[in-house]
Amino acid sequence: MTANMQNLESYWMPFTANRAFKKNPRLFASASGMYYQTTEGKKVLDGCAGLWCVNAGHGNKKINDAIKFQVDQMTYSPAFQGGHLGAFEFAERLTDLFPGDLNHAFFTNSGSESADTSLKLARAYFKARGNPEKIKLIGRDKGYHGVNFGGLSVGGIPAARKVFGPFLPEVDHLPHTHNVEGNLFSKGQPEHGVELADRLLEIIELHGADTIAAVIVEPMAGSAGVVVPPKGYLERLRKITKDNDILLIFDEVITAFGRIGDVSTATLLNIQPDMINTAKGLTNGAVPMGAVLVSDEIQRTIVDGPPDVIELFHGYTYSGHPLACAAGIATLDVYKEENLFERAAALSPYFEKAVHSLKRHNIVRDIRNFGMVAAIDLIPREGAPSVRAFDAYLKAFEQGLLIRTTGDIIALSPPLIIEEKQIDTIINTLDDILTTL
Ligand SMILES: Cc1ncc(COP(=O)(O)O)c(C=O)c1O
Repeated sequence: MTANMQNLESYWMPFTANRAFKKNPRLFASASGMYYQTTEGKKVLDGCAGLWCVNAGHGNKKINDAIKFQVDQMTYSPAFQGGHLGAFEFAERLTDLFPGDLNHAFFTNSGSESADTSLKLARAYFKARGNPEKIKLIGRDKGYHGVNFGGLSVGGIPAARKVFGPFLPEVDHLPHTHNVEGNLFSKGQPEHGVELADRLLEIIELHGADTIAAVIVEPMAGSAGVVVPPKGYLERLRKITKDNDILLIFDEVITAFGRIGDVSTATLLNIQPDMINTAKGLTNGAVPMGAVLVSDEIQRTIVDGPPDVIELFHGYTYSGHPLACAAGIATLDVYKEENLFERAAALSPYFEKAVHSLKRHNIVRDIRNFGMVAAIDLIPREGAPSVRAFDAYLKAFEQGLLIRTTGDIIALSPPLIIEEKQIDTIINTLDDILTTL
């Protein structure tokens, strides 16, 4: 790519204020470890692991070498009625890692595709089981399951849905668990909100359990601004879904692969969902990929009938792509060899203490954290929602720090290789910036 490229118009950037960006672009040229380098040579500390995905840090040599090796072997193999060993190996490695009987991996290319795949599998399961009327899908307010129609239908972020309706029928939503006043400055899982899981009982009463296929939730809602599950809430959802023969899908696109100090929230809290959706940390962001981890019961029920007939008409041209599988296998090796999940768990208390030190600023409304994720919730400027946090984003970038903002919330989720002194740098930079906002 030419270094002095001037025309930025052709690329329509996703989830971006295109016109403002193109007037004042922030362009990255390279990345290594905890840092990006911009095209202007500025070093930028990554406070959000790219987009919650680069858990093992940038440019990991083992992952890069695995991709380079695979490039010379084979860059594509047909995904339908054909295969390559890497996909089988990666699926086995993954299913060994995730809890209980989630012994089958369905590969996608993103978190959005994982969401729609899991919702379709839920319906296909009940059709195959002889309950074709179990079709309703229950999401949650403030939920984010990507941008495809299935995920948007069960999702609950108004701005992401506003201009795209109508959505799937046969959908309902649980209330969210974000209770700022009740759980102010909570550390880890908040105390209040377990009873919100009981709202599922009302939804079941309204529609009938015999019409509901699945409940899908992010164990920790990331895109809505880091909404940590109240103590006992997810366990209760599991009990109610199980008692009523409803599948429970955990969307762990953000929370899996060490982000919360374990393989997944399901592992951490010892809860067994029927499916877990993943993407992001799956390949350390090096090659796009997602995976839905599926229980034996669901897979075996669908994969039935005459053995030479295609059992499920679903999949993607790039499901189990050779480069993605090579990156994914190497990523799992790196997580293990560098003990990154344990490292995240060990670093979390330091991170928590550091982040909560920002409470002293009077524009800070709330701070919350879970594993290596934290949110600093700012009081919006009068009549100008989101502007204060975005100002923080721009100032942080100027000062060589990348953060993520959503509404008036600053979200931090650094690579898990971060060191204590780099946590200090993030907090000191934000401390300075918060005094100017
Ligand atoms: C929980 C969750 N699900 C799904 C997605 C969508 O992932 P993608 O952008 O890879 O489609 C995201 C993205 O942030 C997410 O946080």
